[in-house]
Amino acid sequence: MNNRVVFIIFSLLASLTLAIELDFCVGDLSLPRGPGGYACKDSSKVTIEDFVYTGFRGEKAITNAFGYNVTLAFSNAYPALNGLGISMARLDLKVGGAVPVHSHRTSEVIIVIKGTIIAGFIDTNNKAYYKTLEVGDVMIFPEAMLHFQVNVGKIPALAFVSLNGANPGLQLTTPSLFAGNLPGEIAQKITLLSHAEVKRMKKIFGTA
Ligand SMILES: *[C@@H]1O[C@H](CO)[C@@H](O)[C@H](O)[C@H]1NC(C)=O
Repeated sequence: MNNRVVFIIFSLLASLTLAIELDFCVGDLSLPRGPGGYACKDSSKVTIEDFVYTGFRGEKAITNAFGYNVTLAFSNAYPALNGLGISMARLDLKVGGAVPVHSHRTSEVIIVIKGTIIAGFIDTNNKAYYKTLEVGDVMIFPEAMLHFQVNVGKIPALAFVSLNGANPGLQLTTPSLFAGNLPGEIAQKITLLSHAEVKRMKKIFGTA
């Protein structure tokens, strides 16, 4: 066997280590996170409480300009997910509200619990796939595709999603352009928006 084959075999074995050697690896948030996730919390200190996440309880306030609230059960908030390749989020949308176009490092499935939501994604050929989802409907957003949810019903909407990564990330396109440190002149160049439009967007996010 040449060295490359040996290296590939060892890489594959290394990526299977968690499955073979440990039942679970609850993340130790006091240590730095690496590309593979967190180091494991001392298993003698792990209890049932580590495996239960209660952050989805109750009503969620909706205060942003888009009219949504997303509660993320990713591994930094729910360390028992560490190494297991799965996570969840709760989506609350006020009447007329939207989760703005965004992406993750993973795929995502959504299930609608309350209300009526237009959900969709846009592929790399700019083709949009979108549909009005009713209670109980499920839709998949394939890995890394830009996607969105809009409440088109007459009541607040509620949905849950699951993602096939413990730390799938959440990158919101509009805030990434206008809510951070990107200079307005660059935002203008890379979007073709006018100076006035960029200024209006930055004002919405308090960065003008
Ligand atoms: C989401 O809801 C929680 C709980 O009500 C609240 O603390 C948080 O500020 C809300 N976030 C947004 C963006 O409205």
